[in-house]
Amino acid sequence: MSTTNKLKIVEKLEWGKFVSPLSDKNIVPFNWYGFKHRFGSELVSKIFSMFNLSEGDVVLDPFCGGGTTLIKSRLDGYNAVGLDISPFSTFLSNVLTTTYDASKLEKALNKISHKINNKVEIPDVAILQKSFSDLTLKYIYSLRDSINSVNSPEKDFFLFSLLSILDNVSKAKKSGGFLRITDHKKVTPKVVQKMFIETSEKLMDDIRTFKYSDASTSAIVGDARKYPDEVKSRNFDAILTSPPYPNRHDYTRIYELELLVGFISNNQSLKHLRYETLRSHVEAKKKFEGDGYVRPLLLGEKINELNNRELNNTHVLPTIEGYFEDMYLSLKEMSGVLKASKYIGLVVSNVRFAGIMIPVDELLAEIGEQVGLHLQHIYVLRYRGNSSQQMLRHKREPSRESLIVWKK
Ligand SMILES: C[S@@+](CC[C@H](N)C(=O)[O-])C[C@H]1O[C@@H](n2cnc3c(N)ncnc32)[C@H](O)[C@@H]1O
Repeated sequence: MSTTNKLKIVEKLEWGKFVSPLSDKNIVPFNWYGFKHRFGSELVSKIFSMFNLSEGDVVLDPFCGGGTTLIKSRLDGYNAVGLDISPFSTFLSNVLTTTYDASKLEKALNKISHKINNKVEIPDVAILQKSFSDLTLKYIYSLRDSINSVNSPEKDFFLFSLLSILDNVSKAKKSGGFLRITDHKKVTPKVVQKMFIETSEKLMDDIRTFKYSDASTSAIVGDARKYPDEVKSRNFDAILTSPPYPNRHDYTRIYELELLVGFISNNQSLKHLRYETLRSHVEAKKKFEGDGYVRPLLLGEKINELNNRELNNTHVLPTIEGYFEDMYLSLKEMSGVLKASKYIGLVVSNVRFAGIMIPVDELLAEIGEQVGLHLQHIYVLRYRGNSSQQMLRHKREPSRESLIVWKK
């Protein structure tokens, strides 16, 4: 990274508390689903103001995750398009930005059956059997089938309601980058039924008092490294996103239960999705060639340092290399659809492997310049990962979580 770019790193720590979704815990509809890896809506709001958006502008989020950018866009009167490789994320984003009719929902809820079908088809994936008792699993899939027989869009609302309680009724707990099985929960079908009905009623209550603007939003399944035609053919007034961080978290594992109950019917399809995700974790595979990508010198230096360290997994180095090649492709796609003189905001965190800090923000800032973007600033939003005690003991530098802003 050039010295000029280094000078563009500035602190904006007053925005730090909005990086996590904690500040949204009482705000509808952000509090409908606890998507662990989303940024806070106030951060989106502050970035929209920084980008000087006007009503009716169209925003793109190519890694839309829990839908924060889309929800905030729709609330504030901006149109938005979201893209995500996971059908669960696009589903979530679409449900959370739909205006439902509470009276139609009430009628649909009465039609949903709670009978257990003993012959219901359940994917043969170990995590399901580990997370629920046999009978509860049969009830969940029978309920899912009954929900599927309801008309759209109400069907999506109730599928969402079911998916939103899975965490609470299962033995699997989202823990960092994976699901951890705890064995103290014994949940019967009756408990799931009660929670499903109560949650649905609570969401319907929220709907009665909640109002969106007339702006339109939609999320579609697609790859941020190669946009589907319906995104590629459009132009955007702003791009705001947060890609996976190269910290080995695998979203197809963290949201495995939601994917299996809602969208994916067997282990093979689940693995396929896992392999297709951005190379931010060791199981993702190379999918596209980064034609024109020049590996930043600083990345080469970091890889050399890591070569001299003991790493607990031989896939770590290719994953780090692959991450930046994939992000080159993602930034190239973003640059291709952004209108001239408009901005991209990308929230990302630096990561550490075997004691070596990888300055993801600086590296991506440089890669952005390779695809014709002009770095404005790297705003450091917060420092994380280590307590000050640990840092003193291990003389570790804290890792930055930053907002990178480019102009086209
Ligand atoms: C950090 S989350 C985004 C969170 C989002 N900013 C929010 O506030 O809800 C990253 C998302 O990237 C998605 N993803 C991973 N690989 C992808 C790819 N190749 N193309 C598009 N999305 C991908 C994951 O499924 C995940 O939902």
